[in-house]
Amino acid sequence: MQKPLACVILAAGQGTRMKSALPKVLHPLCGRPMLGHVIATAKELDCDPIVPVIGHGAEQIRRQFAGEALRFALQAEQLGTGHALLCTEGELRDFCGDLLLLCGDVPLLRTETLRSLHDEHVNSGATVSVLTARLVNPFGYGRIVRGPQGVERIVEEKDATAAEKRLQEINTGIYLLRAPHVFDLLRSVRNDNAQGEYYLTDIIAAARAAGERVTAHQVDAAAEAMGINDRVQLAEATRLLRARLNRQHMENGVTLIDPAATYIDAGVTIAADSVIHPGVQIGGETRIGGACLLESGVTIRDSVIGERVHLKAGSVVSESHIGDDCAIGPMAHLRPGTELAGQNKLGNFVETKKATLGERSQASHLTYLGDATIGRNVNIGCGTITCNYDGVNKHRTVIEDDVFVGSDTQFVAPLTVGRGSLIGAGSTITRDVPADALAIARSEQKNVEGWAARKREKTCKE
Ligand code: UD1
Ligand code: CA
Repeated sequence: MQKPLACVILAAGQGTRMKSALPKVLHPLCGRPMLGHVIATAKELDCDPIVPVIGHGAEQIRRQFAGEALRFALQAEQLGTGHALLCTEGELRDFCGDLLLLCGDVPLLRTETLRSLHDEHVNSGATVSVLTARLVNPFGYGRIVRGPQGVERIVEEKDATAAEKRLQEINTGIYLLRAPHVFDLLRSVRNDNAQGEYYLTDIIAAARAAGERVTAHQVDAAAEAMGINDRVQLAEATRLLRARLNRQHMENGVTLIDPAATYIDAGVTIAADSVIHPGVQIGGETRIGGACLLESGVTIRDSVIGERVHLKAGSVVSESHIGDDCAIGPMAHLRPGTELAGQNKLGNFVETKKATLGERSQASHLTYLGDATIGRNVNIGCGTITCNYDGVNKHRTVIEDDVFVGSDTQFVAPLTVGRGSLIGAGSTITRDVPADALAIARSEQKNVEGWAARKREKTCKE
């Protein structure tokens, strides 16, 4: 893009219609706050500076985006969208160029659309360019009123006459403006309207009155300009964004058996030839390798999954790392800090937490491995439990390479099981086991001859 481009993002309103304690622009769509999507768009367009206008929930918003290159402007009292833009004058004092105005509650706009708005703005030499859309049901939006010389003004739903309410071209709330000139125009805007607010939309009429050029650029796909004011619109926008993200994954070579029932957050990456069944949820900072198979009900957050990993139905994985060629589940629970080196198998009802497993180690059934360091080629029998918590502290269990753990073993941590050793089934292991030993810790069996037969006979007589 040619001249310097700054971006103002309006995000100070309360969002009353959301009926929420959370500021509207922090409500997430596909795992990212609404405002986060808008900021990402501004960054993609190389806007500098990016100035979000905040007011309601300002501290919470600042905290959420701490560390990002943003220059917040405060609008202490929400007196309208026009007043909100005026509040950025201090931050943009030295800025001379084009100003892209985005709304924190319009998160689906594509950068291509904004680029063509910018191009049209530059080519026409306009002072104000507004992005419009044609809607079958324009209810609630500001309407674009055109005259012989193009756009004359914008009228809000609450101020519109019956005839104006029938206009289907709406204001998306997105503009390109010439700065700093726009601030002079804004000062002439009054608040004598149905809501008693300083409307940014009145800048159109103000520019026209001053004899300046105004253009309107209509988006092709109206859906991307939708504003979110309530939870119905939030769900609708989420559905649209999800469809867009899912399409990208399919274009990248990922098979989604039912894209409408696949929930992948923004920022997740998946390599080609992975197959995802319906009802899968993937969120946070997650990367998934190629040729994986994710069955229904799999839920993954903030994890790295290698290649050819088979996650069977109902498995939950968070903050974990799964190496190549692992088979997990069904119904396994990999909690934070699980690290599988590769070729591991964790079967049904296996739970892990802060557990590392070396290559080819496996736990095929009904097991809890917490605070455990497990070497290579270890076989953990059915029903094994690491007793890692003594009520006060957590302790580690170390199991070295090539150990065979018999079924129904408890390891009372802290302890180390030496390389190549074997644990007899049903053992409660409380002390270290030396390498290559057999450890067996259970009471000896006693057989009472004929006892059961005698008991049966007695019961019959009664
Ligand atoms: C606004 C437009 C309307 C347009 C619609 C598109 C005005 C007067 N109306 O209406 O023409 O069709 O967007 O979605 O501009 N905000 C502030 N400070 C304020 C008021 C609002 O920062 O004092 C922010 C809000 O947080 C929100 C944005 O501005 O992100 C739009 O405000 P909102 O109240 O949602 O306006 P709409 O009624 O949707
Ligand atoms: Ca709105």
